[in-house]
Amino acid sequence: MSNKEFRERIREELEEIKKLGLYRKLRTVKGLNFSSNDYLALSSHPRVVKALSYSLAGATGSRLTSGNVNHEILEEEIAKFKNFPTSLIYPSGYQANLGLISSLCKKGDLILSDELNHASIIDGCRLSKADKIIYKHNDINSLYEILEKNHKNYKNIFIVTDSVFSMDGDIANLKEIKKIADEFSSVLIVDDAHATGVLGDRGRGSFEYFKIRPSDNTIVVVTFSKALGCQGGAVCCIEEVREYLINTSRAFIYSTALSPALVNAVLESLKIIKETDIVKRLKDKVEEANKILLRYKLIEERREVPIFPIILGELTMKVSEELIKNNIFCVGIRYPTVPKGKERIRVSITLNHKKEDIELLAKKMKESILKFSS
Ligand SMILES: Cc1ncc(COP(=O)(O)O)c(C=O)c1O
Repeated sequence: MSNKEFRERIREELEEIKKLGLYRKLRTVKGLNFSSNDYLALSSHPRVVKALSYSLAGATGSRLTSGNVNHEILEEEIAKFKNFPTSLIYPSGYQANLGLISSLCKKGDLILSDELNHASIIDGCRLSKADKIIYKHNDINSLYEILEKNHKNYKNIFIVTDSVFSMDGDIANLKEIKKIADEFSSVLIVDDAHATGVLGDRGRGSFEYFKIRPSDNTIVVVTFSKALGCQGGAVCCIEEVREYLINTSRAFIYSTALSPALVNAVLESLKIIKETDIVKRLKDKVEEANKILLRYKLIEERREVPIFPIILGELTMKVSEELIKNNIFCVGIRYPTVPKGKERIRVSITLNHKKEDIELLAKKMKESILKFSS
């Protein structure tokens, strides 16, 4: 293929993406930001920002070479925060899911994955040589039936689910899923990306919320990039799993360790969560948003977490563009991130929002929906 042919091919494929209405472009946030996962507003907290300067900017190598700096201090803290024996840090939440699932689930094993799981879980499943079956979203009967039919054919079975689904803001029925995992002697992997700092009275995540005690067959993935306001991820697990991942997980072994400066920042975020009432304040903010969005009939039911999907189908991108023009940054979410016909504006609420901001968002969104649907 000549240089010209190569460029032509890329252009044609981009045209195809545009024709399908799926073209993505980068934007810089302007105005009120309702698309951020910084639920506790920790990314700009003075103590977190200051903590960034306490250590090296770069880790200088993989954890197994020169990159093991202050990471074990954070691993101990994260494990305590989540009530697990230990944890292992990855440079991102994406890598944590990918690295965990692709190395732990092997040929001859079975993975059962919720149909709305995050892309990092899906990609981890794709890399794994285990068999995979997708169960209906948060559907306990679907999960049970699949297990009853298949469990005798496999030595190891892994059930994988988000705890809070990132695009819908609903919560997996973990109490029942854990019971099923125990009944079928399988391992339960829970992605607590949007639950950490959010769910449970102390913000410890889904296990605190459901009062589930971690056991040998439970693994929880944490991301530092949402409510903790930083970057990176961790797998909370038993010692044997940590040791196994250090020895086999390619996303861990072959990537430079998380920046030590960020490790310090995450440690500070955890301290703030433990020392202050920010988790409670976020819950109050979510209640405030519920009242406003229900009053404007933008949502039909109360939400427990700061994620509010406003499902607008084909109006989504028009409404989103109009809001962005009006300095309300609220991006539209399309296929393949969400199913066709379920395109939406995913409103996320953070402690940076005042009541008037949420009022303004609701008013402008309602006006824009009426304008484009008439
Ligand atoms: C449910 C879920 N899991 C994992 C990730 C990946 O985390 P990170 O952004 O830290 O790579 C995300 C974020 O996009 C997410 O929403």
